[in-house]
Amino acid sequence: MAKSKRIGILTAGGDAPGLNAVIRGFGKTSMGHYGWEIIGFRDGIQGLVENRSIALDRAALSGILTVGGTILGTSRDKVQKYMVDGEPRDMTSTVIQNYQKNDLDALVMLGGGGTAKNAKRLADAGLNVLVLPKTIDNDVAGTDVSFGFATAMEIATDAIDRLHSTAHSHHRIILAELMGHKAGWLTLGAGIAGGADIILIPEIPYDVSSIVEAIKGRSARGSTFSVVAVAEGARDVSDSADLEAASLLVNSARSPEERRAAKAHLANVTDSQREHTFKLARELEAATGLESRVTILGYVQRGGTPCAADRLLATRLGAAAADMVADGQFGYLVAARGDSTEPVPLEDVAGKTKLVPPDHEWVATARKVGTELGN
Ligand code: F6P
Repeated sequence: MAKSKRIGILTAGGDAPGLNAVIRGFGKTSMGHYGWEIIGFRDGIQGLVENRSIALDRAALSGILTVGGTILGTSRDKVQKYMVDGEPRDMTSTVIQNYQKNDLDALVMLGGGGTAKNAKRLADAGLNVLVLPKTIDNDVAGTDVSFGFATAMEIATDAIDRLHSTAHSHHRIILAELMGHKAGWLTLGAGIAGGADIILIPEIPYDVSSIVEAIKGRSARGSTFSVVAVAEGARDVSDSADLEAASLLVNSARSPEERRAAKAHLANVTDSQREHTFKLARELEAATGLESRVTILGYVQRGGTPCAADRLLATRLGAAAADMVADGQFGYLVAARGDSTEPVPLEDVAGKTKLVPPDHEWVATARKVGTELGN
């Protein structure tokens, strides 16, 4: 008889709806279908480094399909740059020791591009690792979609719907700021679904005058209100250029000193652009004469029960991951591909971000229905 396996699972990075549904999907398939034992590390990489785990038995998995957040806790710690007394340390060997201490056959990590980077290092060090794509931003490379995105899009769309009626009643411009520092999938998807009049995403730097023109055009046609869906990472052309130049300096730094200075400069630029949605609101109010208001949706988009699409995706990915462990397939992202799943090598995912291509079909669709994209 084949030796029963013992698998570790953890959730890393920002939480997203569906994490518990994946834990359940993976756990139930592993225990019920394959007869393995599962342990869950607490608080992401932190629990892996500090060897803090709990047994995930049938009772622990019961009733968690619909629960938001993660029953394991999460953190944004990194294996190679783990902060100890304010200094980054490489904890790869500690993680390997803990993997061995726990007699693990595999480690399943639920996270995004950063988690894939950590996982790749562990895979390179010889551990049997799999990653499952999580994030409300939908920016994990190599997968059609990530769990958490569909729920966040529902929440953001509902907010845009509600903002419409109040914007309409008061003849105001309302700017709904949605999550997404680098990727605009959530703002674009919810913006189209909610019928936002203007959609601003990080991948398409905006020109304030184009937005003003669009709003004035709406007023001339009798619509004396506008709803703007704006991603937290969306910037006007000039701010976007400053940010890109500062990021390039960090990436091209040739010495630790140069890198430190470039990082400090980037922090200053980022700081100077804080509250950019409020700045845009003031500019629009001044140029159009319409009162402007800002609603920042923030963490509401990450919380609460996952929608049906995310529960289904999470369960499929969890079950597929258990099958891959059974087949001895490691070093992969368990990607969603159409109605199926597919192993994608971690080197194609690690540290990468899937951005909205400016010629993407969603962008073209938004333009066709008359939505202003700020350029
Ligand atoms: O990556 C998901 C995300 O929700 C982003 O959209 C957002 O910018 C970021 O996390 C916020 O991170 P934190 O939880 O560290 O504040």
